[in-house]
Amino acid sequence: MGRKLQFEIFRYNPQDTKSVPFMQTFFLEETDKMTLFIALNRLREEQDPSLIFDFCCRAGICGACAMVINGKPGLACQTQTKDQPDKIVLHPLPIFKLIGDLSVDTGVWFREMYQKTESWIHTNKIFDPTKEEERMENLVAEQIYELERCIECGCCVAACGTARMREDFMGAASLNRIARFMVDPRDERTEQQYFDIVGNDYGIFGCMGLLACEDICPKKLPLQNQLGYLRRKMGITAIKQYIPSIVTKTLIPGVQKMLPDSVRKRLENVFPDPFC
Ligand code: SF4
Ligand code: F3S
Ligand code: FES
Repeated sequence: MGRKLQFEIFRYNPQDTKSVPFMQTFFLEETDKMTLFIALNRLREEQDPSLIFDFCCRAGICGACAMVINGKPGLACQTQTKDQPDKIVLHPLPIFKLIGDLSVDTGVWFREMYQKTESWIHTNKIFDPTKEEERMENLVAEQIYELERCIECGCCVAACGTARMREDFMGAASLNRIARFMVDPRDERTEQQYFDIVGNDYGIFGCMGLLACEDICPKKLPLQNQLGYLRRKMGITAIKQYIPSIVTKTLIPGVQKMLPDSVRKRLENVFPDPFC
């Protein structure tokens, strides 16, 4: 016989004017390989058909089932009950609009953020369907693919203290998205254009480096690398606005050339093309 699990689940339906938020207790016997997806479906089928939560793929692909599980944002379909204590407390993700109980609308938030960050390829090239596809370096394609693995679950945003305090903060998912376009050679935006979007307190300079985003990301995206990359690029773009180009284009490359090879190579590893 499996453990007797106790579920404490947040209940509230904002569509119903009589509804008030409360925590409801359920009990369920644990079965082998039980996930929260299975547990919640059983609770809805066997105990309370009014329980609201979202699922679509059940395979960690759609991001719909994100919720706060014992205080940490995560995907319910990828969470096995055996890894949780006897008492499992479930809340909806904060920050996003509550639909009801454990269901939130992440779509509206992501659409607004992607509109703010102009999250599409900017190019003046006219598409010619008769032309052969343009080739891309494998390494660059892999880099883009790595950043495209985001499933827009919203866990990184919900886990971020800055996003909790400031609803205008773009959040790690949007900043990761901008980094994705910056490495894409098809996007013809200049660094100044990217700077105008994210080089501010709502964007990369608002990030306080709290690191929860990367810790919590269920797809293990290298968010800190991307935030670091963006911070460095935008920092340099900001400096360039105040330093005359004679310094960045002539003086610094001149000094770099005078350095011994070994020192220059080491510097290049740490700061690749800082003023390019
Ligand atoms: Fe979810 Fe990770 Fe994408 Fe954030 S970056 S939305 S945690 S998949
Ligand atoms: Fe938030 Fe991640 Fe920055 S948790 S403050 S976006 S490092
Ligand atoms: Fe799709 Fe969980 S149901 S990620």
